Amino acid sequence: MARVGSIGSMATKSVLLKSGQRMPLLGLGTWQVRHEEIEQAVDAALEAGYRHIDTAFNYNNEEAIGRALRRWIDGGRCGREDLFITTKLPHVGNRASDVEKYLKKSLSRLRLDYVDLYLIHMPFGFVPDSSGENPAKHDDGSYVLDDTDHVAVWKEMEKQVDEGLTRNIGVSNYNIEQLERTVANARILPATNQVELHAYLQQTKLRASCAKLGIPITAYSPLGSPGARIHFEQKYNYQYPDNTAPDLLQHPLVKDIANAHQKTTAQVLLKHLIQQGIIVIPKSTNPKRIKENAEIFDFQLTPDQMMQLSGLDLGEEGRIINFRFWKGVEKHPEYPFTIQKSA
Ligand SMILES: NC(=O)c1ccc[n+]([C@@H]2O[C@H](COP(=O)([O-])OP(=O)(O)OC[C@H]3O[C@@H](n4cnc5c(N)ncnc54)[C@H](OP(=O)(O)O)[C@@H]3O)[C@@H](O)[C@H]2O)c1
Repeated sequence: MARVGSIGSMATKSVLLKSGQRMPLLGLGTWQVRHEEIEQAVDAALEAGYRHIDTAFNYNNEEAIGRALRRWIDGGRCGREDLFITTKLPHVGNRASDVEKYLKKSLSRLRLDYVDLYLIHMPFGFVPDSSGENPAKHDDGSYVLDDTDHVAVWKEMEKQVDEGLTRNIGVSNYNIEQLERTVANARILPATNQVELHAYLQQTKLRASCAKLGIPITAYSPLGSPGARIHFEQKYNYQYPDNTAPDLLQHPLVKDIANAHQKTTAQVLLKHLIQQGIIVIPKSTNPKRIKENAEIFDFQLTPDQMMQLSGLDLGEEGRIINFRFWKGVEKHPEYPFTIQKSA
């Protein structure tokens, strides 16, 4: 069978990593995507030209993603070398002695010999329960916190590159101090820091530090993760402080700019980031929206529109994913975020 768009025009829009490998500016997010839905979503994304898929041990969907990837690779529809697959070391494996074990579990589930990028999912670690899959909890429902030694874990991450199990290594949810400490002790620099980043949380200080260190940023929740607050409230009974800011996808300014370009608000929000060289990984399971989110390389926002969108920044107040739905996490010495008075 003929290969479909092996590194098509979209996939060539990429960031050059220190390893010499290119990381596509657009990837498919897969958090909260169930097994039944993910194969179809990966198919739709690969059809639409995506070559970068973002998953994690914690998303519990690596096996189904692996099945979809195998169909494409074994069917000759794309080469392994055309794909950029990211997965992540879970919080329950965030210790040097467990890095290789969890990476090998992910590789087996993904049916791959190597991933393109292995990230430390969070800067804090939890003690696992007996299954090794979930965090252990105290009687009051709070999580059992583990010591987390960033330097020791990073050395083990570097070993995974040496052993060929991953092409690149990076971090996620690291603050400036954690990133600088890792860099100061690194033989291999982090390929990226994957953090929450959208028009309401533009991470200007963190971005400046990453730029100084030569570390590209990957924006998670680039559309503002509509529905995430409700999900956390329902699943963990975690109450967010009142937030009257409108859903970013419905914001009047974003709508005006979208109308001016005959684009959708999602496309404008993604463009605002990629036009600044930020990698984006929007999640969708809807084939129409997956395709729509990829059609962002054929227009340009004006300097004035870029400035207006940058003006939507709410700073820390704009953060959605603060992990405080995991009871007691903020007591971990490596909890990365400043706590809002209102939170
Ligand atoms: N490292 C970390 O700690 C971390 C944390 C969170 C997320 N992530 C990664 O980042 C990815 C993206 O973040 P996210 O899932 O939080 O949020 P997001 O990508 O900002 O938003 C996803 C939501 O937007 C909807 N959507 C997607 N495209 C749309 C469009 N064109 N128009 C209207 N609605 C649209 C999706 O619904 P439909 O599916 O129905 O289209 C879904 O409900 C995750 O999936 C995951 O891979 C990483």
